Amino acid sequence: MRDFSKVLGGSLQGTRSRTTSAKLLVLILAWAFAPAARCGDAESRPPNVVLFIMDDVGMGDIGCFGNDTIKTPNLDNLAQEGAKLTQHMALPLCTPSRAALITGRLPVRYGMGAEGRMRVFIYISARGGVPSNETTVAELLKDAGYATAMIGKWHLGISCTDENSCSDPNSQGFDYFYGLPVTNLRDCGTESTVSYAWAKPRRVYAKMAYSVLGALAAAMLLKWMELIGYRSVVLFLFVALAANGSLLMYWKAIRINCVLMENREIVEQPLQYDHLTERLHSRAVQFMESHQQQPFLLVMSFVQAHTALYNNDLFRNHSVHGSYGDNLEEMDWSVGEVLSSLKKLGLERNTFVYLTSDNGGHVEEFTDDGEREGGWNGIYKGGKGNTWEGGIRVPAIVKLPGVIPPGTVVSQPTHLPDVLPTVGRVTGVKLPTDRIYDGRDLMPLLTKDSSEMTHEFMFHYCGVFINAVRYTPEGGDTTYKVHYTTSRLIPGPHGVLGCFQTYTCDCTGWSTDQHDPPLVYDLTRDPSEASPLDSKDPIVVEVIGKVEEAVSRHRLTIPEQQSHQFSVLQTFPRPWDRPRCGSFPFYTCTDPYLNHFKADKKKTPR
Ligand SMILES: *[C@@H]1O[C@H](CO)[C@@H](O)[C@H](O)[C@H]1NC(C)=O
Ligand SMILES: *[C@@H]1O[C@H](CO)[C@@H](O)[C@H](O)[C@H]1NC(C)=O
Ligand SMILES: *[C@@H]1O[C@H](CO)[C@@H](O)[C@H](O)[C@H]1NC(C)=O
Repeated sequence: MRDFSKVLGGSLQGTRSRTTSAKLLVLILAWAFAPAARCGDAESRPPNVVLFIMDDVGMGDIGCFGNDTIKTPNLDNLAQEGAKLTQHMALPLCTPSRAALITGRLPVRYGMGAEGRMRVFIYISARGGVPSNETTVAELLKDAGYATAMIGKWHLGISCTDENSCSDPNSQGFDYFYGLPVTNLRDCGTESTVSYAWAKPRRVYAKMAYSVLGALAAAMLLKWMELIGYRSVVLFLFVALAANGSLLMYWKAIRINCVLMENREIVEQPLQYDHLTERLHSRAVQFMESHQQQPFLLVMSFVQAHTALYNNDLFRNHSVHGSYGDNLEEMDWSVGEVLSSLKKLGLERNTFVYLTSDNGGHVEEFTDDGEREGGWNGIYKGGKGNTWEGGIRVPAIVKLPGVIPPGTVVSQPTHLPDVLPTVGRVTGVKLPTDRIYDGRDLMPLLTKDSSEMTHEFMFHYCGVFINAVRYTPEGGDTTYKVHYTTSRLIPGPHGVLGCFQTYTCDCTGWSTDQHDPPLVYDLTRDPSEASPLDSKDPIVVEVIGKVEEAVSRHRLTIPEQQSHQFSVLQTFPRPWDRPRCGSFPFYTCTDPYLNHFKADKKKTPR
């Protein structure tokens, strides 16, 4: 306090009007500002920002959202210390959701709404990605002096259209990147960790050997029966070898996409799941430790709980829900490691934390023995890939100590694009004014300063199509959902309803239903979308009319000319044109950082 008043008094003494009242003012000011001055450096600088993104985790998977058998103590704590958003909406698939989150804008505004079936990047060589003239949350904060890191799954493209416009994390505002440029795939991992029978190298080689030997045996038999001559035997063998050669090339080609990168270098190929969770959060902790003197943005994007599921030895059989539950509990532990490191560094009180999932659980995923592998959406219908509630309503938690009251619950509609404007507000960083933002600052809702409706309408896109619209009339007591197109859900294993025709739901076409008049649900009373309202009811007619007007107004704001990021040409695999490590012909390498964890087996999370 003394230092502070001296500085303030000193500067005032230099002015001409040294009156008693000025001195009094100085004293009052000094007193008023004293508490702030005493709190030290960490408190007077803008808050750090930590964004956690989970993959395919549904509303039914998290303790604080109602799951009583999966243990997520770290997430539950976070919700207790901050706010839980119970109507937080995403897009139905990874790539568009993540694009919306980091830009604050719906993907359809910049060519990331797909017109066809391919709605995410599957191949590392794919062209396309978040256009470089979008301002990401990382670019926004980096310009304001933040250190920025992206750890884990990116999935927003890594290609360049020219030297100055690339989509990789380092080009989109992140100083540091360590993680998966594309996504977790069943084809990745070592033999002991891949879960997809097709991807096990030994099985692939065995299948090839059997088929070549089988072809040889059949040809020899035909020769013995004198049905064919030696020339045909040779032809038989040649065809078998060629078929297997193509199979091997295909298999190699899909594993090309299994890589781990550090900045723009590939450090591991194929990606190994061993200690992957620890490698990711340890890099995150290292980043926070080395930037503790400066405000930072950390985006921690988990590989869990997307298939292929994998587990650290210490988490095998940890849960009562098989590999899926183990996977979630391992992720919860990892969240805890990052949060406890924040606490250790004394930064907890000055850090904005947000956690969400990119879309709902993938209900079509089962193991061969019928065990669920793809997440659980609780009472919500549908899942990943579609615009039923199960596909787009995701768990979300926000914490900012001293600002957001502990135990807050926000039940109004909110969505992923709200993150960027909210971060702007919290950090005091101004957003560009030359574009339309779909996100709104959530601070008034989070601090209960105002329960004013943030989103009267919310457009639920599936690719470039508006398949549903959410409408909350003034007053906010009721939220309606109007469906124009829905995925047709059919029963799969154990009576689970999903898009078992196509495995991941489509946005249009034969596996969907068009509704005219649209299907309308009252989500406030019927969150499971069980019984549509009567379309002749005057209230429903009015709802449909209002929504149609809103859709027309909204459409006018979407640019017609866009370069589409998911066209066939963009997403076509180009195995010859990709970053690689190691040398011809196998191009493999192992992350040196992995050895660090292999040596230290004692670390126990239990
Ligand atoms: C908890 O999650 C598991 C795994 O997804 C699921 O099988 C179970 O039904 C969930 N429990 C509740 C109460 O939602
Ligand atoms: C980015 O560039 C495209 C193509 O030139 C343009 O249509 C679009 O408006 C730009 N976006 C922003 C946010 O400036
Ligand atoms: C997990 O449980 C299964 C079945 O009870 C058992 O066969 C397996 O050895 C256990 N694995 C570990 C790592 O404890």
